[in-house]
Amino acid sequence: MNILILNGSPRKNGNTVKILKQIEAGIGKEYSIDWSDVVDLAIKPCMGCLRCRPNKECALSEDDAQILGRKISAADVLIIGTPTYWGSMTGILKNLFERNVTTFEDFSQGRFSKPRQKGKKAVIVATAAAPWPFNGKGAVKSIQKVLQGGAYRIAGIINYGGTALQSEISPKVLKKAKKMGCSL
Ligand SMILES: Cc1cc2nc3c(=O)[nH]c(=O)nc-3n(C[C@H](O)[C@H](O)[C@H](O)COP(=O)(O)O)c2cc1C
Repeated sequence: MNILILNGSPRKNGNTVKILKQIEAGIGKEYSIDWSDVVDLAIKPCMGCLRCRPNKECALSEDDAQILGRKISAADVLIIGTPTYWGSMTGILKNLFERNVTTFEDFSQGRFSKPRQKGKKAVIVATAAAPWPFNGKGAVKSIQKVLQGGAYRIAGIINYGGTALQSEISPKVLKKAKKMGCSL
């Protein structure tokens, strides 16, 4: 089983990564894990030309968007982490997803799309400075929208708010993350 971890935080030792690392630590050694820091990828923004629908190559020349698209398609499980930026996922992560609409949805039948990744498992991790009830709700929702397009099965969600008030991630949440990794 191939597992792809997409870290949407530019901070490589930040709150989101700390939780993602615990999920990774829980995953059985028999699985192959690929970790991708989206901040290191070179991805031009989507130009909105819609050439990719139905199912043509992206009009932009190959960059990391296509490479990651192939990795997403090859992964049996997708683990996506993001801090909340302006109530949503980070711009760098959204940019990757905007360039990969047809990785998640098949438009070959016309205007209405069909999911391409049906039944595959996905995990969402969102962190936010704001505590409950604001926390990372918007970021989770924005990632859910992408995953719904592909018809992934959400195997777990960690929505961790209040990072501005704490210097360390709560041990309870880190434990939950590791357990989530074990259950994949
Ligand atoms: C540009 C920017 C926008 C942010 N917007 C929000 C926000 O809308 N709501 C919120 O609760 N926290 C917001 N934050 C705080 C981060 O979500 C929070 O510090 C998060 O835990 C950082 O995660 P990281 O350490 O993985 O990067 C923002 C931070 C930045 C840098």
